Amino acid sequence: MSKPKILLTRRLHDFALKELRKHYSIQVHSGKIPMPKNKLIEKIKDKDGLICFPYDIIDKQVIDSAKKLKAISTYSVGFDHIDVNYAKKKKLKIGYTPEVLTDATAELTISLILDLLRRVTEGDRIIRKGEWRQIYGAYDYVGVDLAGKTLGILGLGRIGQAVAKRAHPFGMKIIYHNRHRLSPNQERKLHAKSVTLNDLFLKSDVLSIHIPYTKETERSVNMKLFRKMKHTSFVINTARGKIIKEKDLVSALKKKIISGAALDVFEKEPIPKTHPLTKMSNVVLAPHIGSSTKETREKMAEITVKNLKLALDGKKLIYSV
Ligand code: DGY
Repeated sequence: MSKPKILLTRRLHDFALKELRKHYSIQVHSGKIPMPKNKLIEKIKDKDGLICFPYDIIDKQVIDSAKKLKAISTYSVGFDHIDVNYAKKKKLKIGYTPEVLTDATAELTISLILDLLRRVTEGDRIIRKGEWRQIYGAYDYVGVDLAGKTLGILGLGRIGQAVAKRAHPFGMKIIYHNRHRLSPNQERKLHAKSVTLNDLFLKSDVLSIHIPYTKETERSVNMKLFRKMKHTSFVINTARGKIIKEKDLVSALKKKIISGAALDVFEKEPIPKTHPLTKMSNVVLAPHIGSSTKETREKMAEITVKNLKLALDGKKLIYSV
């Protein structure tokens, strides 16, 4: 009997490919990333399973061309690139990789907060440009303490909670806004206080975004909310770029409505070199590396493969959308 056919829209770790080859006939896209849509539509036609990544748009057209497809396994916690409702209507199983990337993403969030408040990347840029002139003066390269500041967490799910746990030992006060309030016990453990959306933006010194990207959250962090913030406050986004209305963020920064931003995600990725955010000294930019540690990416690969295999074997997935 011939092996089921799997398409990977880009390469995974060697150990994962080796495991896949034991059970399947695999085709790994190796050209332009993300895989061009026409190519994806062509290649998926005869496949039983798909392993995809956050930049692959798995929409109705792709799903409709995949006549034999039974399972989609994405190498990500986010699944906003997949038309989940349509895929489910077509009885496709969908796997994803939450939990294993929680710590890595929370660590990146904390590192962005530290970097932005203590102006590390800004200083690095000054030195590299040969512009380090002032030394140790009262006002030179002066940042702000984390201790005593209020961290506002928008979305206190797995990653938001992991950020709260890490921020508390720095002496930050934690407030949050979430669709569902946590239990008093959970709040106590996290030292976190539930507030309204309005108060979250009014009171935060650092506002960190940890909600999923959906039609409802699209561009929901915009000028209306930035205007509520303190002029001394900072915005951090390690969730999805399109949650923020980027044009409004640029203007809030330019008009000094807020003090700075650190971003791992953007409306368009890669962010163009000419984008106004790339010109601002009070902005730290990272190339979407939330889950990008050796350990985490290996665990994600392992789960991606396991999810796919379980789905094709008709079993319960480890993490199913
Ligand atoms: C995900 O898995 O969705 C993350 O954005 C990757 O860093």
